[in-house]
Amino acid sequence: MKESFRGDLLAGKTTLITGGGSGLGKAMALRMASLGAKVAVVGRRSEPLQQTVDEIAAAGGTAAWASADVRDSAAVAAAFDAVEAKLGPVNQLVNNAAGNFLSASEDLSDNAFDAVVKIVLYGTFNATRELGRRLIARGAPGEVLSVVTTYVHTGSAFVLPSATAKAGVAAMMRSLAVEWAAYGIRLNCVAPGPFPTEGAFSRLLPGSEIEKQAKRRVPSRRFGEHHELTSLVAFLMSDASPYQTGDIVTIDGAEGLFSGQQFAGFAHLDRAMAKEMMAALKPKK
Ligand code: COA
Repeated sequence: MKESFRGDLLAGKTTLITGGGSGLGKAMALRMASLGAKVAVVGRRSEPLQQTVDEIAAAGGTAAWASADVRDSAAVAAAFDAVEAKLGPVNQLVNNAAGNFLSASEDLSDNAFDAVVKIVLYGTFNATRELGRRLIARGAPGEVLSVVTTYVHTGSAFVLPSATAKAGVAAMMRSLAVEWAAYGIRLNCVAPGPFPTEGAFSRLLPGSEIEKQAKRRVPSRRFGEHHELTSLVAFLMSDASPYQTGDIVTIDGAEGLFSGQQFAGFAHLDRAMAKEMMAALKPKK
């Protein structure tokens, strides 16, 4: 990837990323560090967190890690303490940690619903409240970005706990964008379509046939690349977007629009053939 931003785009930012040891969280951690942010990665498993920190350090960046389950508010506060002791005050947060799996909703157990909603909704609240309290106490501005998904707008069959929790996260960010504007805190969401990661694809798109079908729903017939998402995240977390708050920015290659447009399938036909077909339907004079 050719870098498209100035290398100091995120200088002066210290960013805590939940779930930053793997998948999209790790991609964001590496990219944000490469743009000058000091990065703290927080998650449940220490090994991938340490690995991410090592990769950032090897590339010349500054990073630290702390382990915490975002469902546990005391552990989240302790993780902030631990990384602040190493990096100084945190002024940004990416709520990326998530849990999800496919299930018929009538088969969900109490624990299954709880597990996802507690990671996604409570986890986001725990981390956001913690950062907010710290920023407000210091009188410092800051940024929060929550990773939601395109089905935040529609709900989604077979991932009900995730759909429910992500809608709650969007409402949380939008509520706080108004409430905390007075403190100079901006909060936004990104809503990605399909961006391949081991964690998500093994749970949600198992098998090459399902993956092929998923690609057909994207007009360009390809999934997103990590740098395309991290570019958006870097912009939203930078001082280049001071007026952007309370927003949900979709990044899905128009997958959502394709799914909702009655005649979208024509876009996948050979264009000359499609034009011939349409011309044949035109009444003759
Ligand atoms: N279908 C139905 N129920 C499931 C399930 C599945 N695929 N996976 C887990 N559950 C249920 C479990 O059976 C359990 O309920 P029970 O006690 O009634 O049996 C409950 O969910 C909690 O599972 P457990 O594995 O104990 O929870 P956990 O806290 O260790 O893990 C998950 C949380 C389930 C969300 C797990 O998938 C996870 O850790 N995911 C993190 C990464 C991730 O999901 N990434 C993708 C993001 S898109």
